[in-house]
Amino acid sequence: MSVLGLTCTRCDAQYPLGPMFFGCPACADGPDRGADGPGHDADGPGSGADDPERSADGPGHDADGTGHGADNPDRGTHAPEHGAEGTGRGAAALTVTYDYQAIAADLNVEHWNRAGHGIWRFDALLPIRDPADQVSLGEGNTALVRPRKVCEATGLSNLFIKNETTNPTWAFKDRFHASSVSMAKSLGFSRITASTTGNHGASAAAYAAAAEMDSCIILCHPESSMLQRDMIALYGGHAFVLENRFKYLDTLIRDHGYYPSTTMTPMPTGTPYGIEGYKTIAFEIYVQLGGHVPDRMFCPIAAGDALFGPWKGFNEMRLLDLSDRNPVMHGVQPAGCNPYVQSFQQGRGDVIVHPDPSSIALSIRDDTGGPSALRAIYDSGGDATDVTEDEIIEAVRLLARSGFLVEPSSAASVAGAIKAARADRLAPDETVVCLVTGSGAKWPEVMAELSSREAPVEPTWDEIKSRAGLGD
Ligand SMILES: Cc1ncc(COP(=O)(O)O)c(C=O)c1O
Ligand SMILES: [Zn+2]
Repeated sequence: MSVLGLTCTRCDAQYPLGPMFFGCPACADGPDRGADGPGHDADGPGSGADDPERSADGPGHDADGTGHGADNPDRGTHAPEHGAEGTGRGAAALTVTYDYQAIAADLNVEHWNRAGHGIWRFDALLPIRDPADQVSLGEGNTALVRPRKVCEATGLSNLFIKNETTNPTWAFKDRFHASSVSMAKSLGFSRITASTTGNHGASAAAYAAAAEMDSCIILCHPESSMLQRDMIALYGGHAFVLENRFKYLDTLIRDHGYYPSTTMTPMPTGTPYGIEGYKTIAFEIYVQLGGHVPDRMFCPIAAGDALFGPWKGFNEMRLLDLSDRNPVMHGVQPAGCNPYVQSFQQGRGDVIVHPDPSSIALSIRDDTGGPSALRAIYDSGGDATDVTEDEIIEAVRLLARSGFLVEPSSAASVAGAIKAARADRLAPDETVVCLVTGSGAKWPEVMAELSSREAPVEPTWDEIKSRAGLGD
């Protein structure tokens, strides 16, 4: 069996695959972990600082999320001296671990080129192997394409977007729920819950429908798109706008048998089973680049799974000897909501809580995130960077003028790449991939605000010629 189980990202404790939604029990029972405490593996079994597989300069645990240490040759220089990790009391994230030797012995990468059945063509590296439990709506298989206007603006001929807007619910979240809801099915659950700014919940409801399950979706912002709420209802889910989302999640999970396909506190991090789905973004990029990994990847981040998931995938390909390096990972956030950026600048191991988040990029307007993505950033030699509202809107427009309609949160990754290019931090021949996470089509109110819609006119030929800039 190639799936070994769950491993704690802090103390290395191991558990069988199962309904473990509240992080590592061993860490929850342990002492509090301060934000700037020693943060090494002093409290975990088998995780001493002299473990040769361990990172020498980063937080002292499996920063690649594979349970195999992060011996990345491209390691960065910004890692904090004290690997401070943990957001204080309690839980630490669990991650799915595999026997990579066994997988390598059997792996046929040719299968990765096959279309069809969504993310499950990568199932050698996913936790659910029984086809009867593999829920799919045909997610993934998204294009890796050069957005013309962005390439012009950056002067980079090898800048690509991984266009996740073509997923079944028009967001990368479908990869998460394909994996996570499949695990719910294999564990015998019949109810799904999720908390969301919109995309995550719409996708959860769609995959619950595919698996013939009920869903109860908690929207945490009253400004979430009305269309997304309608989508949830049409998929057969129940959507609620609630302020104290985690309290309700907890009750649904503990008292009513709901499976959380969602980000949880106090890590915060997504269910480990969902993050496995995001790894397939890295596998697809590798195939699309002809068996290579990109030099850099820019990801719009909130909880951080959007960066940590692909990072874990790239690490696994190294462990399988499919590649010999990882991309440099850049996490991008709005300047008005930048907890990773502040934490990175301070060299912290945990992610601070932003007191007053604001941005047009609602889907990434979370006030804090999980430590796994921050560790991935340090270990890849990357950074967390922020972009202004104007920079985000410029990226939305440049993408639209290239033929891609994306929501502001998705455009943040591209805005981050443009900013880095303008600061001369990218070499012209580098291969850069921006993760473009969700479609503008689900945010009609925001699109209306951003479009320079012209007032209706009398359809005279003179008027049309003048508006379209046509000569006589
Ligand atoms: C469109 C979009 N982009 C990026 C993100 C960030 O993902 P994560 O919270 O996994 O970092 C989200 C999360 O909701 C999203 O909806
Ligand atoms: Zn632990």
